[in-house]
Amino acid sequence: MALKLLVNASLLVIPIGGSLGALFGIDAHRSATGQAPLFSGDSDSSGGGSTGGSTGGGSGADGSTSNNGITNSMYCQDSYGISPPSDGQLYTLNPNQWGLLSTTVGALCMNVTTNNNETYPTKYSAPQFSVTWKYEAGPETQPVHAYPNIMVDGILPVELGEMESLDLDLHWTYGVGNEPVETTVESTLTAETLNTNVAIDMFFDSDKVTAQNSSAAKYEVMIWFAKFGVATDPIGSKVTSRELNGTDFTLWAGNNSANQHVFTWIAADTTERFVGDINQLITDLYSLSGYLYPSSSDYLGVFSFGTEAFYSDSNVTFWVPEFSIDITKS
Ligand SMILES: *[C@@H]1O[C@H](CO)[C@@H](O)[C@H](O)[C@H]1NC(C)=O
Ligand SMILES: *[C@@H]1O[C@H](CO)[C@@H](O)[C@H](O)[C@H]1NC(C)=O
Ligand SMILES: *[C@@H]1O[C@H](CO)[C@@H](O)[C@H](O)[C@H]1NC(C)=O
Ligand SMILES: *[C@@H]1O[C@H](CO)[C@@H](O)[C@H](O)[C@H]1NC(C)=O
Ligand SMILES: *[C@@H]1O[C@H](CO)[C@@H](O)[C@H](O)[C@H]1NC(C)=O
Ligand SMILES: *[C@@H]1O[C@H](CO)[C@@H](O)[C@H](O)[C@H]1NC(C)=O
Repeated sequence: MALKLLVNASLLVIPIGGSLGALFGIDAHRSATGQAPLFSGDSDSSGGGSTGGSTGGGSGADGSTSNNGITNSMYCQDSYGISPPSDGQLYTLNPNQWGLLSTTVGALCMNVTTNNNETYPTKYSAPQFSVTWKYEAGPETQPVHAYPNIMVDGILPVELGEMESLDLDLHWTYGVGNEPVETTVESTLTAETLNTNVAIDMFFDSDKVTAQNSSAAKYEVMIWFAKFGVATDPIGSKVTSRELNGTDFTLWAGNNSANQHVFTWIAADTTERFVGDINQLITDLYSLSGYLYPSSSDYLGVFSFGTEAFYSDSNVTFWVPEFSIDITKS
């Protein structure tokens, strides 16, 4: 199953008013579509700008609370992104409910926790976020309802041959109910027939513009840190395996219905914490044969991390207390 990123935000659903909230919404759209942010590089926005989301009405959020310099905002929209200001690496978060049909039963909301001072633990840290959802199983032709995700902004595209490292620092959990859990207990998820994965999704192409379009790019490369339920399967067949900083990954290869060449690295066990240079999972592909693999002259155009929501018998909460991406180029 290819993860689908819906980045074409609909301006129409964002109320255009005098509030900062509206600008925040437009800013998210601009960013999601590769336009320059409206507020770029301003170091003096630590006052009004950052707290706009905490004022409730007009912020675009379905609910916000602010405490001790931290704002929690809930977003239940289908598909437009939220790009919180940050003094470091920029990210866009998106509930991305791309697979909803008129017959879909269920709901999904994403909570984003932002620091009002726009400063995070490291230069590359993303805001914390969580996703609470429940959907009934969809038809076989459309089993996925959403891919709520966080996307790396501002530094892509990057030519693969110029990428020296792609350092990931990740911690996530999945639990039953509406609150984040400290540790994922797989048996509780299985009992609710949760079907989902936890995955990085990347797109590559020899053309740097096409690489940024998830439906047109030639290659999709995924890294799955977990896979729950019988409906959650990678495309294609097994090719090879390798270890990366203590985690064993198996590579699957195949084509999707859009004729993209899809490569999926799947962790052998549920991996809630991962620290390491995942560029090695990309450079490995150059020397493989038997399929059409990307090469070092291709561009990485899209990088996102999230969970592909198939179905669950009760509400489940995916929590990401730590996510950081540091790409270094030669
Ligand atoms: C920014 O805000 C967060 C959350 O309140 C706090 O933990 C952090 O120390 C602050 N950073 C700076 C540089 O003020
Ligand atoms: C389940 O999650 C949805 C979406 O976040 C939410 O609207 C709903 O209130 C939750 N259900 C319960 C029983 O809390
Ligand atoms: C999400 O935010 C809403 C509104 O602030 C809150 O009621 C809910 O408990 C939050 N959920 C999680 C998982 O943090
Ligand atoms: C992305 O590619 C698809 C399929 O080729 C095309 O329909 C769409 O217009 C492209 N989007 C952008 C923003 O170029
Ligand atoms: C994927 O499609 C290419 C042609 O675009 C074909 O050569 C290749 O065999 C296909 N791979 C699989 C696994 O079907
Ligand atoms: C390997 O993982 C450990 C534990 O998470 C981490 O401390 C270390 O920095 C990682 N090593 C590399 C080379 O990334």
